[in-house]
Amino acid sequence: MRPRTPRDAHDMLLVPPRTIHARELAAAMQDEQIARFLPQLAPLRKPAAALRWLASLAASARTRSPIRIWLVLAGRTRRLAGALELIADTAGGAEIGFWMRRSARRRGLATRAVATLCDQCGANPLRLRTHSQNVAARKLAERCGFVLQSELAGVARYVLLKSAAPPGRTGPP
Ligand SMILES: CC(C)(COP(=O)(O)OP(=O)(O)OC[C@H]1O[C@@H](n2cnc3c(N)ncnc32)[C@H](O)[C@@H]1OP(=O)(O)O)[C@@H](O)C(=O)NCCC(=O)NCCS
Repeated sequence: MRPRTPRDAHDMLLVPPRTIHARELAAAMQDEQIARFLPQLAPLRKPAAALRWLASLAASARTRSPIRIWLVLAGRTRRLAGALELIADTAGGAEIGFWMRRSARRRGLATRAVATLCDQCGANPLRLRTHSQNVAARKLAERCGFVLQSELAGVARYVLLKSAAPPGRTGPP
């Protein structure tokens, strides 16, 4: 489950966590959508906590941790645009998570980043869980070929079986 670092025509990079992005990470966390849909990330609003978190992830990349994180860098300045998470299960599948910095949204970046990870990671099936009212995450899931499995108690659960060609995608991201 170790995707190559892709570099596409729009200059988006997926890179392992690095502590140099701690300040940008803390700044990105000052956002009401992230607070609403990913409340578990609230501690990262503090730069010191963001730094510790990135350092611990960099260290755990050398172990067999089931949790993997990639930072999404975009543009010529390689600014932190967002992050992706993959939590492996014991049966070969994984659950995917993601967020984008507010100013990087609605440009298709998250869709391309998630599609890249789905294509390149070895996990199958992939699952995605989101708040029922998270319109952007739900559209992204459907755009990447995830299929709604259930919607209960405000939680929508999607699955992507990688043997099927995702609809709505005409070529590599
Ligand atoms: C979910 C999130 C990552 C989407 O990022 P993004 O870069 O804006 O996504 P994209 O530009 O690739 O857009 C994905 C789809 O959502 C739509 N969309 C994005 N924001 C939207 C909004 N606020 N309202 C309605 N649709 C929206 C886009 O139009 C696109 O749909 P389309 O392909 O049919 O045009 C971003 O909104 C975010 O970080 N939200 C807060 C954290 C979060 O909710 N993470 C997911 C937890 S499961």
